[in-house]
Amino acid sequence: MASKEDPMTQTTSQPSQPVTSGEARVNAIPTPDIKHPELDRPVIYINGEFKPKHEANISVYDHGLLYGDGIFEGIRVYQGRIFKCGQHMDRLWRSAEALRLEIPVSREEMIAIQRRCIELNEVVDGYIRLVVTRGVGTLGLNPYACPEPGIICIADQISLYPPEMYEKGMTVCIAERPRVPIKCLDPRVKSLNYLNNIMAKCEAIDRGLLEAVMLNTDGFVSECTGDNIFAIKDGVLFTPPSDAGILEGITRRFVMDTVAPACGYHVEERLFKPIELIEADEVFLTGSAAEMIAVTAIVAQDPAGHDVEHVIGADKTVKAEGPITRELRTKFREIVTGDNVPED
Ligand SMILES: Cc1ncc(COP(=O)(O)O)c(C=O)c1O
Repeated sequence: MASKEDPMTQTTSQPSQPVTSGEARVNAIPTPDIKHPELDRPVIYINGEFKPKHEANISVYDHGLLYGDGIFEGIRVYQGRIFKCGQHMDRLWRSAEALRLEIPVSREEMIAIQRRCIELNEVVDGYIRLVVTRGVGTLGLNPYACPEPGIICIADQISLYPPEMYEKGMTVCIAERPRVPIKCLDPRVKSLNYLNNIMAKCEAIDRGLLEAVMLNTDGFVSECTGDNIFAIKDGVLFTPPSDAGILEGITRRFVMDTVAPACGYHVEERLFKPIELIEADEVFLTGSAAEMIAVTAIVAQDPAGHDVEHVIGADKTVKAEGPITRELRTKFREIVTGDNVPED
């Protein structure tokens, strides 16, 4: 991290410091000895230092903890490369700007931090969690009382859904709780405040499910609690637009711009109600952690408030991943296991 010098203590007689790049600064940070791998790994970057896991702690006065005041990115690593790194950095900086949070390192330095974390923890295929907190302040809400935002980078493994679910598909429910409206807190901001999503996720867990579809306050489909959603009808793919109130997923964009066109499909962005999901030929979710996964049934409440399970697709007797989802998922895997994992 850039050292902050007090201008009052600087003297003109000191030799000027050589200008170092963000990457060189990160590479110069000492790394800890690992004495107990099960406790110490992964080595975590936290506020300018690399610490063993059990020593990577933040202050109880950090507003990221006190108020969920901060932002994050969940980023995939494929074959040691940071998948769509450029787009994740763009989104992180956009989120910061929306929350008037000044990220205290350069973009180059932030990328170097991630690369060093991957390297130190020997992550080849894995996941990076990058967090920028408002930093340490007072017990009041005032974000301007927090002089220095905090940065945390964790490179580890993630498995969101069991492997067999990728073959068989998953059942999701329609959450009763709507997505926070854009005017209140724009879901495009990937903030540390995920309570809207967590409470909707509880609705899924209460039903023995792993994911819930969230509707906006006008009753249109927005996204799931941790994934974007797509549907397919008569060979046409469609997904809710940004103004439905969604996180603009990097995986969603990759499917729209690269995976679907490579398979000869175009994706429409348009508003739609849950009935179109239920009547779709195929439904699938996208996310950095989930990649692409088929939805094969949707649980929705009938007018009497009873849960009804709707199997997706023409054949209501079998829950199975549809052919277009399979084709797209195969292409997706082909790209991320190929020689040119995109870092743009
Ligand atoms: C609410 C929400 N929607 C969508 C996504 C998918 O976004 P991405 O593809 O960038 O991981 C996420 C991922 O964390 C999410 O939390």
